[in-house]
Amino acid sequence: MKILITGAGGMLGSDLARELSSRYTLLGVGRREAPHAGISMRLGDLSAPRWFEELLAEERPSVVFHTAAMTYVDGCETNPGEALRNNFEATRLVADACKKVGVFLIFFSTDYIFDGTKQGEYLETDKPHPLNIYGESKRLAEDYLREAGDLYAIFRVSWLYGLRGPSFARTILRRSRTERNFEVVCDQVGRPTYTRDLAEAFRILLGQGPRILERMNREVFHLANHGTVSWAGFAEVILKASGSAEAAVRFITTGQITRPARRPLNSVLSLEKAERLLGLRLRPWQESVVDFIAEYKASPEWQEVA
Ligand SMILES: NC(=O)c1ccc[n+]([C@@H]2O[C@H](COP(=O)([O-])OP(=O)(O)OC[C@H]3O[C@@H](n4cnc5c(N)ncnc54)[C@H](OP(=O)(O)O)[C@@H]3O)[C@@H](O)[C@H]2O)c1
Repeated sequence: MKILITGAGGMLGSDLARELSSRYTLLGVGRREAPHAGISMRLGDLSAPRWFEELLAEERPSVVFHTAAMTYVDGCETNPGEALRNNFEATRLVADACKKVGVFLIFFSTDYIFDGTKQGEYLETDKPHPLNIYGESKRLAEDYLREAGDLYAIFRVSWLYGLRGPSFARTILRRSRTERNFEVVCDQVGRPTYTRDLAEAFRILLGQGPRILERMNREVFHLANHGTVSWAGFAEVILKASGSAEAAVRFITTGQITRPARRPLNSVLSLEKAERLLGLRLRPWQESVVDFIAEYKASPEWQEVA
């Protein structure tokens, strides 16, 4: 089976490539090279008309994982045109091409399509109401898929961190080399999710055979590591687990900082549907972050600076 991964040079895309390369023929698409040797890359911009459609018609994979997106939330707010181009227009072209060629599309969306005012976990059926341009651009992409898509599934994931690309977890670790005092918001709560765990879940899912795609078709799923925490609580665990015993986290509230994009206070996605219908249950985030720290500290990036 051939699988195409958009954004294969990004955080989730590169872990999907690493996880799936031993079983499937992989093709990556994106604006930068993938770090994993097990995937050949076609470089280009997904928002360019016809480029992806022609590539798909030529390559004819069975499944497309569409991870490519503009994920810098504050950057989306200050440059809404770019956000819409990369997150909505590009997804529209990917969806149209998949429909035309008859390829199953797995699209990644976000907890930021919700406004965070709900008491309790967000269900897949809850009404999206994004607070920022990033969330709005992903909501528009979801809506387009629901209206015009044919073979597809939407997976909303949250608070990603991984070995590639910027993330909160990597920033805290990097800063812990030189800093001892951290101010972090304590009133935004969510589920930190390791991209390696997500990639492993998709390997297990695809391993169930083609019928799993039928079961997923036209459905929305929430998928994340188990457990919830605030950004401040997450920072504390990262610092403790990485051995930065002297580091102190000062808890501040969202109202005390000014950032271009508003963030939801409650980002907690309900994980029940993916577990019930697909048998997917990711481990608690506290276990994953320990593995992440060990892998990151063994990586050339960390070693070079050490
Ligand atoms: N990161 C999170 O915390 C988070 C949370 C919830 C949901 N998600 C969703 O999960 C998915 C994966 O996120 P991630 O953090 O792994 O992403 P990422 O690390 O930012 O990687 C995205 C990749 O997509 C590429 N890309 C963006 N627009 C493109 C275009 N028009 N044409 C070709 N390539 C393009 C980027 O290239 P450049 O480097 O050149 O821009 C980058 O390599 C995304 O759909 C995201 O919305 C992420």
